[in-house]
Amino acid sequence: MRTVEWHDGIVRMIDQKALPWKTEMVDLPNYKAVAAAITDMTVRGAPAIGASAAFGMALAAKQSSATSVGEMMQDLGQAADVLKAARPTAVNLAWAVDRLMNFAQVGKYPTADAIREALLNEAQRVADEDVAINKKMGANGAALIKDGDTILHHCNTGALATVDYGTALGVVRAAFEQGKKIHVLLDETRPRLQGARLSAWEMEQLGVSYDILPDTAAGYYMQKGEIKIVLVGADRVAANGDFANKIGTYQVAVLAKENNIPFYTVAPTSTIDLNLATGAEIPIEERGKEEVLTPYGNPLTPEHFKARNPAFDVTPHRYLSGIITENGIARPPFSESLKRVVAGEQV
Ligand code: MRU
Repeated sequence: MRTVEWHDGIVRMIDQKALPWKTEMVDLPNYKAVAAAITDMTVRGAPAIGASAAFGMALAAKQSSATSVGEMMQDLGQAADVLKAARPTAVNLAWAVDRLMNFAQVGKYPTADAIREALLNEAQRVADEDVAINKKMGANGAALIKDGDTILHHCNTGALATVDYGTALGVVRAAFEQGKKIHVLLDETRPRLQGARLSAWEMEQLGVSYDILPDTAAGYYMQKGEIKIVLVGADRVAANGDFANKIGTYQVAVLAKENNIPFYTVAPTSTIDLNLATGAEIPIEERGKEEVLTPYGNPLTPEHFKARNPAFDVTPHRYLSGIITENGIARPPFSESLKRVVAGEQV
């Protein structure tokens, strides 16, 4: 089952807000509904929102009433703006939308219908490539995992965060499929609990041994020597290797360094943004305080209590042992190695 797919002329995705209690699919009839699903996190995870936006562009083309190429490009431009504004931090969103826009332009298609067909094919390619890339990252990363290892993971980076298979949890999956006996400690990941709700659900499906941890327990298990490696995903990697990921990643990275534990991010090259020199330039999403005070409708405090809710933080590159990509593991100095992997070189 794919997280997001084209189904009979509409976009169909798993409702990640309903998991782990219910496995429900939602059908999105137009690109505005796709943008809304990205904003409210029906679909989340950098590669998954990229693929959703690609299908959103195909949907915009399909539903446009344009009869000329010029009108079509105008409609697509509007859809691109709406989709890109859905969430700011994961660069995969803008990457996918720009890829579809460029594809519509460079093909010099003679008719609006030709663009409709071309964009659907290209969106499908974005989705298919994502699965293939995840499997390559899984194989590259699994080489770092030893039989008997306990791995610490933050947020959710599995099949649900991608089209299928996963990034950091894709590495876990690949190691498990190689027959390695592994255990994963899953940070619950307050406030939206992607670790407890989604990653644990995925480990249940795969049969991988796991425990959910309160976010505050990661240091405790590092100090006890249980954690051999930390694997996380990324929403945007800057040219120097600084990267944004789910809030709490930075403190895990600092703890890992203090305890001499290797710390890796697993990210496809579509997550690398060479236009940004450092992580200080990455836009960080702030979400509503109700996610902190009333998670999934369950009040923890009176409604008027105050809270802040940054959705991501930036981990400086000095905490990273490496960045696992589909083109190999980029190592320091990242300003060199990232250019090479983005250019398609194997490292
Ligand atoms: O807010 P989310 O759930 O979209 O955040 C997801 C993460 O931070 C993931 O670690 C990241 O997108 C990589 S997913 C393969």
